[in-house]
Amino acid sequence: ATGTKWVLGNWKMNGRLASNQALLAALLTDAQVNVAHVGLAVPTVYMAQVAQTLSGQPMAWGGQAVSRFAADGAYTGEVNAAMLADLGASFTLVGHSERRQYFAESDEVLSAQIRHAREAGLLPVVCVGEGLAAREAGEHEAVVAAQIDGVIAALQGSERVVVAYEPVWAIGTGLTASLGQIVAMHEKIRACLLEKLASSCTILVLYGGSVKADNAADILALSEVDGVLVGGASLVAEQFSKVCYGA
Ligand code: G3H
Repeated sequence: ATGTKWVLGNWKMNGRLASNQALLAALLTDAQVNVAHVGLAVPTVYMAQVAQTLSGQPMAWGGQAVSRFAADGAYTGEVNAAMLADLGASFTLVGHSERRQYFAESDEVLSAQIRHAREAGLLPVVCVGEGLAAREAGEHEAVVAAQIDGVIAALQGSERVVVAYEPVWAIGTGLTASLGQIVAMHEKIRACLLEKLASSCTILVLYGGSVKADNAADILALSEVDGVLVGGASLVAEQFSKVCYGA
C-alpha cells in the first residue's frame, strides 16, 4: 500500500453523534487510514462534528451533495457550497445516482452544483454510472458518455477532474462490476474526458459499487483505477480500514 490512491467513504443518510464519534476514533487510530488519501462524504447535520474531530488530521471530508443555488438567501432547506467550504469541506459529491434518481437532479442542476462547488474552492467528485437495463442492452458506454457530456462545460478549466464510476446495479447490492468491466469503462471515461476537456488537467477515475474489504485490493491494484468510493463498508471501521490497506 502506497497511499497514492484515493479512498472516499460515503456515509449516505446514516449515523448519529455517538456512532460517528466511535467510527472516526477507530479510523484515526489506524495508521493506514492516515497514510492513504482518505475522504469522507458525511450528512450535512454532522459536518460540524466531523470537522472538529478531524481537525489537524490527514483525513479530508466533504458533502454528499450541494445546493444548485450559490447565493445565500430564501432557499429553505438548502445548504450552499460556501457553507460547506466555511466549515472546512474540501470536496462534494455531485450527481450520485441516488440524487439523480430520488431528487431528479438533471444535467443542468448538476452543472450548477459543479460550478458553485468550484467557485467555493471545493472539488466536485462527479458520479456517473448506468442502470441494469442499459448494461444489459449494451448501452452502458453511451449512457456514461452522455452523463459526462451533460456536465462537461461546467468542468472546463479545472486543474483536476475527478469522476466516480458507479454502475447503479452494483450499488448496495453486493454485486461488483468485474475487473474487466471496470477497466473498460474507466478507459472509456478517461478517453471521453481527454477528448472533451479543452485544457490539460489531472484526471482521476474512481470506482464505486459494493467495494468492501475483500474486493478492494484487487480493484485498487488496477492501473486504470485511481481510487474507490465506498458506501456501506465506510460505516464499519474494520471494513473501511481494510479498504484503505489496498490503497
Ligand atoms: O457512494 C457510494 C456508492 O453508492 C457505493 O455504495 O458501497 O454501498 O455499494 P455501496
